[in-house]
Amino acid sequence: MTDPAAAAAQANLKKVRTRHFQSAKENGIKILGLTSYDVLSAGIFDESGIDFLLVGDSAGNTVFGYDTTLPVTVDELIPLTRAVAGAVTRAFVIADMPFGSYETSTDEALHTAFRFMKETGAHAVKLEGGERSAKQIRRVVSAGIPVMGHIGFTPQSEHGLGGHLVQGRGEAVEQLLRDAHAVEEAGAFAVVLEMVTSEAAKRVTEELTIPTIGVGAGPHVDGQLLVWSDWAGFTKGRIPKFVKQYADLRGVLGGAVKAYRADVESGAYPAPEHEYE
Ligand code: KIV
Repeated sequence: MTDPAAAAAQANLKKVRTRHFQSAKENGIKILGLTSYDVLSAGIFDESGIDFLLVGDSAGNTVFGYDTTLPVTVDELIPLTRAVAGAVTRAFVIADMPFGSYETSTDEALHTAFRFMKETGAHAVKLEGGERSAKQIRRVVSAGIPVMGHIGFTPQSEHGLGGHLVQGRGEAVEQLLRDAHAVEEAGAFAVVLEMVTSEAAKRVTEELTIPTIGVGAGPHVDGQLLVWSDWAGFTKGRIPKFVKQYADLRGVLGGAVKAYRADVESGAYPAPEHEYE
């Protein structure tokens, strides 16, 4: 006889595939994502039931200390993506295609996608842009590689967009809808909506058959995604209004350093149990 708890645990371990994104939308189950850039965080998120991990070009800010995502290269993201893909047993791992690695032609997009799939073990790629990136999405998908789209505020175009501005307001919702449909028609399995009004996100989510994943897009989307260091209180300085912090990692680590210093100075560390005989 099947033990229900064991069956549930087993179901929980089933690898997430693109079809699970689709069935989650159809069944009204929210899809949960975080970014990750290393083996330790990826392992924790995977064990804790996160559905997908994005190795985002936000690594430019969170790992490499750049001001924007623009300088990030494929060569920088490949080792991070390999570490994350190697850490998971269940979560779906998505490699972000950085600025300048897919825009010039569909050949370039496919070449970059091949690199991520062959060299990292990622399960899909993500690229920014709606109508303007539809050809690239179609070509990569036709080679058997799942693509996540990304529209609304697209950080790689931050200068073209005039800064970190909320998208989809007023008449701009019409372009957002055209972008969303272009991404769906090109064959993407899901689309990220970043920093768009809740009303615009609701319209896109209702019109599309593929799931929408919100990053600052309000509640009327099929899933949520956050940059993990913002979400965990690890980021220094300003974080966007849409982020809810679920931990205070800076506080915890800062406190640990203080305790370590106090122990070393007082001689409490190392104690006998930390010594070799
Ligand atoms: O690079 C990234 O982390 C992203 C998400 C914020 C969507 O693109």
